[in-house]
Amino acid sequence: MKIGCPKEIKNHEYRVGLTPNAVLAYVQDGHEVYIEKGAGLGSAISDEEYVSAGAKILPSAEEVWNIAEMLVKVKEPLESEYKLMKENQLVYTYFHFAANEPLLKACLERKIISLAYETVQEGHALPLLKPMSEVAGRMSALMGAFYSARTQGGRGLLPMGVTGVAPADVLILGGGIVGTNAAFSAAGLGARVTVLDINLNRLEYLGEILPPNMKGIYNDPLTLNQYLKTADIIIGAVLIPGAKTPKLVKKEQLKIMKPGAVLVDVAIDQGGCFETSIPTTHSDPTFVMENILHYCVANMPGAYARTSTFALNNATLSYGLQLAELGAEKACRASGAIKLGLNTYKGVITYKPVAEAFGMESKYTKPEDVIR
Ligand SMILES: NC(=O)c1ccc[n+]([C@@H]2O[C@H](COP(=O)([O-])OP(=O)(O)OC[C@H]3O[C@@H](n4cnc5c(N)ncnc54)[C@H](O)[C@@H]3O)[C@@H](O)[C@H]2O)c1
Repeated sequence: MKIGCPKEIKNHEYRVGLTPNAVLAYVQDGHEVYIEKGAGLGSAISDEEYVSAGAKILPSAEEVWNIAEMLVKVKEPLESEYKLMKENQLVYTYFHFAANEPLLKACLERKIISLAYETVQEGHALPLLKPMSEVAGRMSALMGAFYSARTQGGRGLLPMGVTGVAPADVLILGGGIVGTNAAFSAAGLGARVTVLDINLNRLEYLGEILPPNMKGIYNDPLTLNQYLKTADIIIGAVLIPGAKTPKLVKKEQLKIMKPGAVLVDVAIDQGGCFETSIPTTHSDPTFVMENILHYCVANMPGAYARTSTFALNNATLSYGLQLAELGAEKACRASGAIKLGLNTYKGVITYKPVAEAFGMESKYTKPEDVIR
């Protein structure tokens, strides 16, 4: 199969769909790989590395989209890319259709096959979301530490303390993938860490793995209030699958917190778990409300693009190789995980929640009915 990887064009997106290792794996399986010139530079990967792995470099995105039977990307196609999508072309990337009706309509009109990273599912796990949650979780503790500096608007607190001076208290709301990675990252910096969650099984698991300077506590409104008063850094990492993130911390509760405390709302991509959170960008990441510094960047992993690119490829490659080897239809028949990633197929919607999000049930067809 002819595999194409264009440069990402979303604002401040430095990740890339394929690493040289991934290129080598596709080439060894007998496929041809075409990379747009400079596509890897944001992740510190040169064209020469791709060529050494067996890829051919093409000068423009148009040429990559034109030659490829399967596109491997990171972000959803943007409006300027819609016209480049071709009938029957397989596009393997994050789509997040439920938040983007124009994209859905474009993919249906262009009759592409959309294989969405975010809905590939193994049991209850979402293996192609997990690596980015790991990056965002670990990064959130670093951002909390950085913005705690007085010069950045924080309380002027060094998270690990020094001899004779106590470390910072870090409070993490939600002990899932993001929260657990944030907890280990904050504890690694020497902070005292508390994770609040409502899932007793998760708390039991955290109790087994957390080191002595970290603890897992059941979240209820009184407990939350108590910890809000003492926290120096608060990381929002709550998720209720399929629902809007609950606003766990209301605007009036900011008044009981220490002035200059830092809120890092990782869950902002689903609405955020602080009432006062507003999405921000890497170019303007913070704002202050009620004396509390807010960091609410919706695409945190983009900042650590090289790590994120490699982590993403480690997760996407095995499914990508199956798609390239078998084609979308056979791969979906062979793998339930891949079938759940099929969101649109040649003009119909094949993932029910996406159809329901826009009242487009008439455009929905069961994936089993199209991959025969
Ligand atoms: N901003 C970014 O760049 C970025 C990157 C990756 C992930 N995220 C987002 O981070 C969020 C967390 O992702 P995840 O992978 O850790 O999800 P997850 O499902 O692994 O974890 C969510 C946790 O929240 C807990 N929870 C639910 N309700 C709660 C409540 N009322 N109080 C306390 N805990 C509660 C759940 O029990 C679960 O353990 C998601 O919204 C995800 O989209 C954002």
